[in-house]
Amino acid sequence: MSKIADYDTLDYNYKTYWANREYENMAEHTVLKKIFKKKSGNWFLDIGGSYGRLTDTYYDKYKKSVIVDYSLKTLQKNFNYLKNKHQYIQLIAANAYNLPFKESSFDGALMVRVLHHIEDPNTYFKEVHRILKSNSSYIQEFANKLHLKAFIKALLTLNFSIFNKEPYQQPTQENFEGARKGVSVPFFNYHYSWIKEALIRQGFKIEGKYGCSFFRVNFLKKIFGSSFLLIFERLFQTLFSWSNISPSIFVDSTVLKEQAENSKDFDSIQEILVCPECKSSLIFTKEKAVCDKCKKEYFKKENIWDFRV
Ligand SMILES: C[S@@+](CC[C@H](N)C(=O)[O-])C[C@H]1O[C@@H](n2cnc3c(N)ncnc32)[C@H](O)[C@@H]1O
Ligand SMILES: [Zn+2]
Repeated sequence: MSKIADYDTLDYNYKTYWANREYENMAEHTVLKKIFKKKSGNWFLDIGGSYGRLTDTYYDKYKKSVIVDYSLKTLQKNFNYLKNKHQYIQLIAANAYNLPFKESSFDGALMVRVLHHIEDPNTYFKEVHRILKSNSSYIQEFANKLHLKAFIKALLTLNFSIFNKEPYQQPTQENFEGARKGVSVPFFNYHYSWIKEALIRQGFKIEGKYGCSFFRVNFLKKIFGSSFLLIFERLFQTLFSWSNISPSIFVDSTVLKEQAENSKDFDSIQEILVCPECKSSLIFTKEKAVCDKCKKEYFKKENIWDFRV
């Protein structure tokens, strides 16, 4: 079984990570607004969505949005904040490798700043492909192994392993997103070709590639400030997205699969929820859901259904 970055055991408050990162936050919003411009649908899923930093990029595009995250504490802590911001958003605690949703139930999904914690992307891509409808959209962001700073470092140290397509596991240090000194958490950087091939293998068609956070360099941020850098960021996103120099890359893709015979639009979250373990139907009471087949029980804990397995 793949190792999971469990933010609850790290007692990590992810909101604080963004306190001084206005430039990166705005750069990511800029890319996503561009990607979502022509998208719409019924159900949308933000995988590893945490406290909902990116909800404003998709909430008005889809009729029903769901955030899943492995951190139950984060979802519980931010339940009121998110419900005040977006009345109809749904929050579910679940593992990206074992999503508690019916096959072909979502019209779109996104994963941002989470893939570095996913040590088995092939299994994960297969799972997200399962819950997405034929022709739906999937947006995958990843930390780029080949970015400009890594390239310069490779030249200076004459270590050219960054050109190897295989995922690179970063040593855990302080200040990595979701990691702590002395605590080992999966943290991978990926090569675009590797991600592209893995997505295609699992049945996704690549529609576009977008570079992001081209100027993620502390001294540039200090000297120029985020508003000024964002002018150049927009320009670089337009001119240099074909390259692999940015530290973060977004891939826009479409799901290729046979249209499900009984494909329909579901109205309520209970209609699309299934047992994450065996994918069978659930029988719901107010605070409990029991799997029809394996009889496993899942509970609602302070407003949040806990489907983590
Ligand atoms: C660095 S945060 C990114 C949050 C959000 N996507 C954003 O960009 O603001 C990573 C999130 O992924 C979640 N996560 C890590 N592994 C996961 C898994 N296997 N399944 C679901 N969520 C996971 C963590 O709990 C955390 O909230
Ligand atoms: Zn079951």
